[in-house]
Amino acid sequence: MRISIFGLGYVGCVGAACLAKLGHDVIGVDVNENKVRLINEGKPTIIEEGISELCAEAHKNGRMRATTDACEAVAHSDISFIVVGTPSSKEGHLNLNYIFNVAERIGKALKQKDQFHIVAIRSTVLPGTNEKVGEIIERESGKKRNTDFAVVSNPEFLREGTSVNDYFNPPLTLIGTDNAIAEQTFRELYKDINAELICTDIKVAEIMKYVNNTYHALKIVFGNEIGNICKRLNIDSHKVMEIFCKDRQLNISPYYFKPGFAYGGSCLPKDMKALKTLAHDLYVDVPVIESIHSSNERQKDNAVQTILAKGKRHIGILGLSFKSGTDDLRCSPIVDVVERLLGKGCDIRIYDKNVKVSELTGTNKDFIMAKIPHLQHFVTSDLEEVCEHSDLLVVTNKEKEFEPLLERYPGKIIIDLVRQWQKVDYDGHYEGLSWGDINQNGEAQGREIEQDFRQTDF
Ligand SMILES: NC(=O)c1ccc[n+]([C@@H]2O[C@H](COP(=O)([O-])OP(=O)(O)OC[C@H]3O[C@@H](n4cnc5c(N)ncnc54)[C@H](O)[C@@H]3O)[C@@H](O)[C@H]2O)c1
Repeated sequence: MRISIFGLGYVGCVGAACLAKLGHDVIGVDVNENKVRLINEGKPTIIEEGISELCAEAHKNGRMRATTDACEAVAHSDISFIVVGTPSSKEGHLNLNYIFNVAERIGKALKQKDQFHIVAIRSTVLPGTNEKVGEIIERESGKKRNTDFAVVSNPEFLREGTSVNDYFNPPLTLIGTDNAIAEQTFRELYKDINAELICTDIKVAEIMKYVNNTYHALKIVFGNEIGNICKRLNIDSHKVMEIFCKDRQLNISPYYFKPGFAYGGSCLPKDMKALKTLAHDLYVDVPVIESIHSSNERQKDNAVQTILAKGKRHIGILGLSFKSGTDDLRCSPIVDVVERLLGKGCDIRIYDKNVKVSELTGTNKDFIMAKIPHLQHFVTSDLEEVCEHSDLLVVTNKEKEFEPLLERYPGKIIIDLVRQWQKVDYDGHYEGLSWGDINQNGEAQGREIEQDFRQTDF
């Protein structure tokens, strides 16, 4: 394929040389004339293992050259990658000036071109940038997105130091697109790259790099905080983390990585508290570990606010135990939510097939007695009664028996804390606690909600 690459820094230079190695014709574009000269001499603009050989080979085969002229590059390519820098501003915002400048230059160049062109944003950019780049290109070229050109998001996952190897063996290849031609072209472009290719929504692709890098930073900080506690106890933290990483069922696994409701139960809150207090007693600062509890409490606040914002008095709670398949109410986060809703005067009915209030014993009973001693007035074993009585239903546990509710009870407000449904086409209002609107019934979702009471902000 014929490819132009805007930005010949770390990512652009490696991308250009690797695409040339894969047999494509590459034109690099940079505002820096020195970098353009280097590429035209068959030399890399950066130092990386293997890059000098790749650049020399690409130059010799006539597969890679560079220019400062955007029009020339766009005219001689079918895909333009944008790989310019996206530095932070002093206040921490992302500076997208370089991206928008390239979008303008590509737009102007497309004015002179009749063939369909694909623009791929490879730089790390926040959600919404793809849309903005499309608008700039439309404005500058007078052409229409998805008729004359497409803009895809194709984030880069390479690490400096191993970037050539990472380019050919990435963890995965990600394409965010709303265009079938672009998807097909990219599947062809990356067919020889040794990784799963995932095609997804543009905004999902855009946020991915931030999610990855934030998690990487979290892993480092978590490992360090555990290490600092271990050092004070004269424990070899490397042995600890090695064993930690061997658990592929719960630790290094997709488990627990589903956005949703707060954690609870008899173990996580207690053991978190114990480790935090141990660190405190050892005079070891563990700000990340310490912040986990408050983040979890914040998620309960989010649930309360999301429910109250709908202004409905008759509320049904589906699931009371801390997770499905148990009657354990100890530190169940929904109990805190119910306690606060009762305090606001909500009329509540609760259904949980595993919880029989009269049969609660031991610490389970003590917990509920301390929180909601009159619980038996709200709990019923009749799911239908709860659904019929309520204008707003809160799904707190993933249970098979809740699956048909959307079909059976139209016209209600459903607040889903656990992603009970992957796809939703509900004739009513559906809202997830930690994910965007997924209700395909836009008309019902957009209907105004009649409120029984209004929240007042003071
Ligand atoms: N460096 C990494 O390891 C890495 C990894 C993954 C993603 N990224 C992301 O990739 C992007 C690029 O990073 P980098 O490290 O290659 O940056 P870099 O600063 O090394 O290179 C950017 C290049 O863009 C050029 N440029 C600026 N404005 C231009 C314009 N209008 N037209 C043409 N060229 C222009 C600059 O002269 C420079 O050569 C960033 O968004 C970064 O966050 C970087």
